[in-house]
Amino acid sequence: MMELMMMLLGGLVTIFCAYALALAFNVVRYRPFFKPGAAGMPPGSLGLPLLGQTLEFLRCFNGGNPDLFWRKRTGSSHFKGLFRTHLFGQPTICVITPEPAKSVLMNDKQFGVGWPKSFTKLLGGKSFLSMAGESHKRLRRLTVPSLTNSNSLKCMLSDMQTLTNDTLNNWVNRGEVVVLPEILKLTFNIIAKALLSCEPGADVDIFGMEVSLLSLAARSLAINLPGTPYNRALKARRKLNLRLQSIIKERREGVHASNLDVLNTMMQSKDEDGGGLEDEEIMDTILAFMLAGHETTAHAIVWVMYFLHKHPQAWQKLKEEQQIYELKGRTGSLSVSDFKGMDFMSRVIDETLRIVNLSPFTFRKALEDVELNESTIPKGWSVQLWFRAIHLDPATFPDPYTFNPDRWIDCKPKLGAYVPFGAGARGCPGSDFAKLQISALMHHMILSYRWEPINPQAKIKYLPHPRPRDGYAVRFFKNE
Ligand code: HEM
Repeated sequence: MMELMMMLLGGLVTIFCAYALALAFNVVRYRPFFKPGAAGMPPGSLGLPLLGQTLEFLRCFNGGNPDLFWRKRTGSSHFKGLFRTHLFGQPTICVITPEPAKSVLMNDKQFGVGWPKSFTKLLGGKSFLSMAGESHKRLRRLTVPSLTNSNSLKCMLSDMQTLTNDTLNNWVNRGEVVVLPEILKLTFNIIAKALLSCEPGADVDIFGMEVSLLSLAARSLAINLPGTPYNRALKARRKLNLRLQSIIKERREGVHASNLDVLNTMMQSKDEDGGGLEDEEIMDTILAFMLAGHETTAHAIVWVMYFLHKHPQAWQKLKEEQQIYELKGRTGSLSVSDFKGMDFMSRVIDETLRIVNLSPFTFRKALEDVELNESTIPKGWSVQLWFRAIHLDPATFPDPYTFNPDRWIDCKPKLGAYVPFGAGARGCPGSDFAKLQISALMHHMILSYRWEPINPQAKIKYLPHPRPRDGYAVRFFKNE
């Protein structure tokens, strides 16, 4: 008996020592060497070797309680809006309150591109998701106006409305639809038309599939072996390059040179010295717009539909607002400024983006040791900005999990407290485009159609973008 107890005790001690050694491994491996007098690192723990705290992170997100991960780490008296952890193979500082988030977002000198190299390789070296500093600024100056200027938005709006109406009519004929895949197709058709004047059809569908392979690889391990998502994405990228090269060549030869699309605007764009964009810069930017733009917008639309259906008062209020614009909408003369002036619509969109957090976090890398909120972020560490935690902070948004579009009547969050599109030098260039798409679609939907979710209790999947697990299956009707 005694022998058995001794064995058990020995086993427990071995397990304990192994665990303590495992915990010490990351601490020793990533021990920073700050200059004398510097503040220490933010509170937290690096977890196990290699895995860090990734399994706990995945358990929280996949178990339907994504906020548990950060809430558990905010109790310490040392907590000043940041904690340290180890996620996805990287020592990481998570920033979860507005002030330090603003400091990171507005400081692209000390905080650089945070995407993994394998991902930026897929996007291309001239994509502004991979670029930093002056070259990033120049690329934005030369490309972003093609997406944001009022003329471009005006042209896009008319296509958005036509494509949207075709889609909604088709849904009525089918009776039951799973909204997410349908909207993903619609938003891809819209972006392909806006960027390249491509008409919906088999060609654009193949284009969309290739882009979605890139998006899938962004969330997979970068293993380049036959059949892996990364390998398929590399192949898709080569095909996309060939396709884009031939479109650009045609444009240079004058085919469709008068198209009022983003590609033509980019090809004519000049910097202060009269220099234009290289073909590679144009191709990488078109892909960045496609990749960053269509999935997020599609998910946002699904969630606006979801919340409106759950909140009949908001539905009614939006309908009443949209009735003011009904006649103009029917005659096709609703303008970009009409959409921008729709108060309740914009409150519904802001509230949806705040609760849902389509980009729950974004990434940076500390380029040097940086002091922030009484602690030091070590050089080379990943910095994650947790927009989700910022937007669900009751100090800024009382009763944060309640969908309440009217909270925006008086709520003017300070910089850093509401950042669904990021902020600073890397802020989203597609925010107006996205909001216009959501508004145009919801305008038609709320006035002429209604929908009933088939699984109103469907659980939510949080990664990579939050969505109802069933893709939001609905019965869809045209109003009599
Ligand atoms: C509801 C829809 C959208 C959401 C929630 C969203 C969110 C964001 C966020 C949070 C960032 C900042 C990332 C960071 O700071 O690292 C970002 C960047 C970006 N977004 Fe969006 N976005 C949306 C739609 C779009 C659209 C429609 C486009 C293009 C057509 C687009 C293109 C981009 C690009 C290219 C960047 C990278 C900017 C840079 O690194 O300089 N996004 N987006």
